[in-house]
Amino acid sequence: MVDKVLVTRRIPEPGLEILRAHCEVELFPHDRNMTREELLAAVKEKDGLLSLLTDRIDAGLFDAAPKLRAVANCAVGFNNIDLAAATARGIPATNTPGVLTDTTADLTWALIMSAARRIAEADRFTRAGKFDGWGPMMMLGGDIHGKTLGIVGMGRIGQAVAKRAGGFHMRILYSDSVMLDPATAQSLPVALVDFETLLEQSDFVTLHVPLNDQTYHLIGEKEFALMKPTAYLINTSRGPVVDEKALVKALQDCKIAGAGLDVFEHEPQIEPELLQMENVVLLPHIGSASFETRARMAIMAAENLVAALRGERPPNCVNPEVFLKK
Ligand code: GLV
Repeated sequence: MVDKVLVTRRIPEPGLEILRAHCEVELFPHDRNMTREELLAAVKEKDGLLSLLTDRIDAGLFDAAPKLRAVANCAVGFNNIDLAAATARGIPATNTPGVLTDTTADLTWALIMSAARRIAEADRFTRAGKFDGWGPMMMLGGDIHGKTLGIVGMGRIGQAVAKRAGGFHMRILYSDSVMLDPATAQSLPVALVDFETLLEQSDFVTLHVPLNDQTYHLIGEKEFALMKPTAYLINTSRGPVVDEKALVKALQDCKIAGAGLDVFEHEPQIEPELLQMENVVLLPHIGSASFETRARMAIMAAENLVAALRGERPPNCVNPEVFLKK
């Protein structure tokens, strides 16, 4: 019997080709996220699911899909999956680590530069016909070179962001529960400091932590109060890591200078005040959105799903305990 899989939204063709070679594929035909009802109905008879970070994969979904044997998330983050529920049912879940590291680090730098040098705002200004000639006080922003970069979460993406800072001659601080090995720390070079020190001393605070119980609202009122009034907050991780209402307040009270955000607490909703602020750069969650990287993510997710359906341990399993039980 050929396995039936559901792909919840169109992904790059190379991923679909792998799936079609091994499975019977149902692809959600619309260019939008599936509603909960659509997802539960479509997954009902499926053996495998290729999901996106926008799909909630929880006990209710597993109950609606009694034949489901594997979930492959086409994302590095997997906070949309209730891992305990998957593990309890012996269902392996997978993610797509590594392949999007550099692309996400590139976008983090695009946000650092856009926020500090007012790129999006200056573009809007120019398009609005407001550019009436060079001005000595026009569109002044903050320098990036020579400043202090604070990286919260020094995993793969945090390290790739640090590497890119080399050309800007920055002092780089990081905070993490795990310390880098001394050789890596020296080669980047980065210094481990406690979270409060990082907030107090950094000109750019950039977030690269997964979303979990420990990191939910990691940055809130207390943290903004510690930051420099000239500092920028950059978030390409997950929206709920930042208390978005507290961010609005911090910006209104000039506790920080600006922000560059690729993710939001209640995507796709955004705190309406942010939309009005010129010193905030807003992107629609495109950290990994390059042609090359999205193709690699699709291939990786498809290979994970095919391996799991064959009963093998998929290369990027995030709940390997399921294989201990078997
Ligand atoms: C994107 O946000 C991802 O987790 O891959």
